Amino acid sequence: MTAVPAGRRRVSDAPAVRQVTEDLVLVEVGGRKVLAAAVCPHRGGRLKYGRVDGDRLRITCPLHHTTFDLTSGERLSGAACADIRVVDVLPGDLSVPEQRDPAHDGSVAPAPGTTPAGGAS
Ligand code: FES
Repeated sequence: MTAVPAGRRRVSDAPAVRQVTEDLVLVEVGGRKVLAAAVCPHRGGRLKYGRVDGDRLRITCPLHHTTFDLTSGERLSGAACADIRVVDVLPGDLSVPEQRDPAHDGSVAPAPGTTPAGGAS
């Protein structure tokens, strides 16, 4: 294992922005994944080329440097324009995690408020 000097990030921790649809980018930062608008509302800058601040969860448009909050989409600074759309903020994966029943290894717990299939109450 290679030691990482204090104050430096590993390459795998570096924020990444990927275009996932014409309208959305996926921002991966610090173990989080955020779906956000792909186009800046100011003048159409492509946010897949934006600079991501992983510590503050912000993205800055490459054209005129307007900064948006990646949790709310709020415009924080820069050119006057609308907020960006943030579709979802996910803790680690795009899939919805199954809820495992800790009492039964490998089984899937029923959704809250439902009765287990085949179970007597
Ligand atoms: S196009 Fe994004 S700040 Fe101008």
